Amino acid sequence: FKEAPPKVLVPEKLSPDGLALLRSSLDVEERKGLSPEELLEIIPTYEALLVRSETKVTAPVLRAARNLKVVARAGVGVDNVDVEEATKLGIVVVNSPSGNIGAAAEHTIALMMSMARKIPEGCASLKEGKWERSKFVGVEVKGKILGIIGLGKVGLTVARLAKGLGMTVNALDPYASPAVAASASVTLVSSLAELLASADFLTIHTPLIASTRGMIAEAELAQMKPGARILNVARGGTIDEVALLAALESGHLGGAAVDVFTSEPPVPESTAAKLIAHPRAVVTPHLGASTVEAQENVSVDVCEQVLEILKGLLPRSA
Ligand code: MLT
Repeated sequence: FKEAPPKVLVPEKLSPDGLALLRSSLDVEERKGLSPEELLEIIPTYEALLVRSETKVTAPVLRAARNLKVVARAGVGVDNVDVEEATKLGIVVVNSPSGNIGAAAEHTIALMMSMARKIPEGCASLKEGKWERSKFVGVEVKGKILGIIGLGKVGLTVARLAKGLGMTVNALDPYASPAVAASASVTLVSSLAELLASADFLTIHTPLIASTRGMIAEAELAQMKPGARILNVARGGTIDEVALLAALESGHLGGAAVDVFTSEPPVPESTAAKLIAHPRAVVTPHLGASTVEAQENVSVDVCEQVLEILKGLLPRSA
C-alpha cells in the first residue's frame, strides 16, 4: 500500500494468529466494548470490519461506513450482518465456512454425553459437598438412535462421531447426497415425522432461515418418543422455546441440551431464562465454536480474505 495503510476495526476478541497476518500491512485497531452509537460514529474511517457474533452490523452502520470494503465474520453464520444492505452498497461480506465444524460437532457430542450421564448435575452436587450416587443414574448412547436435522458439514461430523459411539444415525436433509450419507452409514429418512418418531436423541444442524424458524414446535415435540432428548447447538429459534420448556415441564422429554437461544444473552425472566433454569436442561452460552483451535482457524481464515480483498483480489468465500 503506497499511501496510509487501510484501517481495520476489530470490536470483538479475535484470535491473534489471524490479526498478525494483517498487522504487517494494515492498520489494525482492536476496540472492544463499543456501544452501537460509538460504532456508528467511528465506522466511517475504516476499510474493513472484523466481527464475531456480538457486533450488530446493521443497515445504518453499513450506510455510515463510507470507506468500508469488507465485513468479515469470524465464524459461519452471518446472522448479525445485514448482508442484503452490504451487497447493495458494494461491501463484500466474508465468513469462515469450515473453521469451526469440528468444534461445533464435538460440543454437540459433549452435550449429548453430559445430558445422558447427568454430568452437570453430578458435578454440582459433589461440589456442594454431597455424595449422591443413586440420584444420577444415566443412560448409554450405544445402541440408541440419533436423529439429525441437517446433514451439512457439522451434521455429518456429528454423525461420524455418533457412529463411533455405537449409535444408529438417521438424518433428514433434502439436499444431502445419498452417497455421502451412505459413506457415513447414515440412513436418510424422507419425512420429519419419521425422524421424530424414531429418535432417542434429536439434534439440529441447520442455519436459521425462514424454513427452519420454529420447525420444532409443540406438534413436532409431541411426535417424539416419551423420554427422548433434544439438542440445539445450531441456532436459537429453530426450536420453539415455549414448546420446549412445556415438553420438559410435562416430563414428555427426558432432557434438552441447548447452546443457542432466540435472544443472546437471554433476557432475564424470559422463556429462555426458564429453560436455562430447568433441572433437565444442560445449557452452555453459545460455546459451540469456542475452542482454541476453531478460533485460530476462523481468525486466520477471515484475515486472509480481508487481506486479499483490500489488495484488490477476490474473496475465497462469501
Ligand atoms: C458460527 O456461526 O460460526 C457459530 O455460531 C459460532 C459463533 O457465533 O462464533
